[in-house]
Amino acid sequence: MLLHIYKDYNTLASMAANEIIGVIKSKPNAVLCLATGETPLLTYEMIAIQAIDENVDFSRCTFIGLDEWVNIPPDNEGSCHFFLEKNIFKPLHILNSQIHLFDALEKNLEAECRKMDKTIRENGGIDLMLVGVGMNGHIGFNEPGVPDNLYSHVIALDTITQSVGQKYFRQSTKLQSGITLGLQHFMECRKVIMMASGIKKSLVMRKTLEDKVSTEMPASMIRKHDNGVVMLDEEAAALLKKD
Ligand code: GLP
Repeated sequence: MLLHIYKDYNTLASMAANEIIGVIKSKPNAVLCLATGETPLLTYEMIAIQAIDENVDFSRCTFIGLDEWVNIPPDNEGSCHFFLEKNIFKPLHILNSQIHLFDALEKNLEAECRKMDKTIRENGGIDLMLVGVGMNGHIGFNEPGVPDNLYSHVIALDTITQSVGQKYFRQSTKLQSGITLGLQHFMECRKVIMMASGIKKSLVMRKTLEDKVSTEMPASMIRKHDNGVVMLDEEAAALLKKD
């Protein structure tokens, strides 16, 4: 695992954008799984600009959804679907045929999970996952205590996720469960970039990087990944030991 600490959020976003563009340049038909949330927002803006400036071609990439709030429709601004559409797919002119997201309104969510696993397998596995870290250490919706051998699954959201998640919604929204790729996808992915920014993430990043590796802190699993890169700004790294 590599750890990079950048002086501020802008620098972090620009370095993460470079990493992602680098993957597409070396493998134009890459399979990408990009997180939603506040953390990568600026990275996605920068990718959209860089894609035009450097003539980066995303037309052969495949996009896999990381997670979704169960029962939240895609036209709800707080849904992961809406976020990806607005911040990645539209700006990069990605076609529907390149996109595979969870349908969180599907009645048979178990079947939806198996469908996603099959899609990932048929596309040869995920080349790059960009993940954020929840305030409870989750990755996607892999909540503390999740088994490490799961592929896609439906999971009850813990109280921290239910309350922090309100920030994505205009009005108070019932968030009880999520559908998500599993830690097994995370470990099998060819490259993982984990991003965190701001002082509010400093404690969770200290636990992620310095406490024992455990699914009680799902983000700590990156320390077992063969090709994991953790990218932080100085605020998110503030509680790490100096060495
Ligand atoms: C959310 C999502 C994750 C996201 C994480 C951090 O609940 N399920 O995919 O990466 O929590 O979000 P943020 O970047 O807004 O802090």
